[in-house]
Amino acid sequence: MTTAREPNSNHSASKPSRLAVLDTASPIGQKVAKKRVNRKSRKFADNALLNLCITGKDNYWRLLHSAILGRISTTQRTLSLSPMKILVTGGAGFIGSALIRHLIRETEHEVVNIDALTYAANPDALEKAADDHRYAFEHVNIRNGEALRRVLVKHQPDGIIHLAAESHVDRSIDGPDDFIQTNIVGTFNLLDAARAYYESLDSARRARFRFHHVSTDEVYGSLGDEGLFTEETPYAPNSPYSASKASSDHLVRAWQHTYNLPTVLSNCSNNYGPWQFPEKLIPLMILNALRGRPLPVYGDGQNVRDWLYVEDHARALHQVFEQGRIGERYNIGGRNEATNLDLVHTLCATLDELAPNPDLGAREQLITFVEDRKGHDRRYAIDATKMADELGWQPRETLETGLQRTVQWYLDNPGWAESIRDAGYDGQRLGLAGNAHAANTR
Ligand SMILES: NC(=O)c1ccc[n+]([C@@H]2O[C@H](COP(=O)([O-])OP(=O)(O)OC[C@H]3O[C@@H](n4cnc5c(N)ncnc54)[C@H](O)[C@@H]3O)[C@@H](O)[C@H]2O)c1
Repeated sequence: MTTAREPNSNHSASKPSRLAVLDTASPIGQKVAKKRVNRKSRKFADNALLNLCITGKDNYWRLLHSAILGRISTTQRTLSLSPMKILVTGGAGFIGSALIRHLIRETEHEVVNIDALTYAANPDALEKAADDHRYAFEHVNIRNGEALRRVLVKHQPDGIIHLAAESHVDRSIDGPDDFIQTNIVGTFNLLDAARAYYESLDSARRARFRFHHVSTDEVYGSLGDEGLFTEETPYAPNSPYSASKASSDHLVRAWQHTYNLPTVLSNCSNNYGPWQFPEKLIPLMILNALRGRPLPVYGDGQNVRDWLYVEDHARALHQVFEQGRIGERYNIGGRNEATNLDLVHTLCATLDELAPNPDLGAREQLITFVEDRKGHDRRYAIDATKMADELGWQPRETLETGLQRTVQWYLDNPGWAESIRDAGYDGQRLGLAGNAHAANTR
C-alpha cells in the first residue's frame, strides 16, 4: 500500500495521481477507481484525498457526495477536513458513548466528555476510547452553569454536541421535575455558557464553531396510520419528556436567531443497540427473555416505532455536526417501522435461534400484555430525505441485521446487565405515576 501524505504537506509541491494515496486493492480504492465523477468533483476529490489520513474513510465519501451536490461551502469543507476538539455532553450515555467511540475510531478529532454520571451512564462503554490520548472526561452536571463556563474556558473546544438529558419517558411520567431541570434549564445553561465562550473567540475560530443539539422525533407528537414526520412538521409533544426536549429545541432556535450562535439540530427516531439501559423496550425484552421472565407489552402492542441502530445514529450526528447548515434541523431515522408486538416476536425468534433454551421452549410464550403507558403515542415515523439528499447519509443496518447484532452483544456481555441489577434496576415497571417501583406485571 502506498502511504497517505502528511496532513500538512503542500499539495502543489508534489501532486500525486488521484489513486497514488490509496491502496487500490482496498474497498475504497476500488470505489475511487470505478466511480465516475465530474470535473468539479474530481478537483474536490484531490483535496479530500489529501485529507483522508486526517478524517477517515467515511468522511471522504460524504464530502465527495456533498461536493457533487454543490451543497457545502468552503467554510464547511474546512470544518470537515481538519481535526477539532469537540465537547460532547452526556457522552457516557447510550448514544453519547456510541458517538464518542465513533469519533475516536473514525476521526482525528479530540473529545471532551462532560457527564454527571447519572443512573443512565455507562462508563464501561467508553473503556477503549478512554485509553486514547484524544479523550478527556469532566464530571460536570449541566445544571451547573458556572462549571460549564469553566470547562469551556479550560478545554477551548471547536464545537459542542449536546446529548446530556434525562431520556426515559416512563421516568418522566413518574418524576417530571428532573426532566425540566436537566433538559430545559441545563440546555439553557449550556447555551448561555456557549454563547459567552463563542463571543470570546477570534473570527477564524468562530467560523468553525458549531453547537449541535441532539433531539428526538417525539417532539412532533403522534402520527396516524399514514404519513411521516418531516422537518416542517409542527411540534406537538405529549409526554413530560418530549415536552422538555421540545422546550430545549426552541431555546436552541432562539439562541441562533437572537444571538447568532451557530447551531444545528437533529431529531432522531428510537435507537437500539449495545449498552442501552434495560428500561427501554429492546434490552428489557432481551434480558427478560434470557431469564425466562414475562415480556411485558404495553396496551395492545400496536404502537409503531421507527427503529435506528445506534451506530447509524452516531455516524449521522458526526455528519450533521460537520456538514449541517447553520440554523437547520435534520430528521434522522431508519425507515424501519415495526409495531412493538412484532418487534418482540422478532426478538423472541432471534433469541430462540442464537440462544436456544429447551427448558423455556419458544420464548414468545412469555409475551404478556400489561397496562398501557399514560398518553402513549401511537406511531412515530421519520422522513430522513434531507439527511440523504443533503448529507448523503443512509442507515447501514436494517432492523433485522441490527437486531441480530444487538442480541449477540447482550449474549456476549452478560456481566453488564448484572452490574445494572446490582445498581438497583431489575426491570421494574415505571411510568405508572405514583407507583414508580411496582413489580413487573405478569
Ligand atoms: N435513546 C433514543 O432512542 C433517543 C432517540 C432520539 C434522541 N435521543 C436523545 O439523545 C440524547 C441521548 O440519549 P441516550 O439514549 O443516550 O440517553 P441516556 O439516558 O442513555 O444518557 C444520558 C446521559 O446524559 C447524562 N446526564 C443526564 N443528566 C445530566 C446532567 N444534568 N448533566 C450532565 N450529564 C447528564 C447521563 O449521565 C447519561 O450519561 C438525549 O438528548 C435524548 O433525548 C435519544
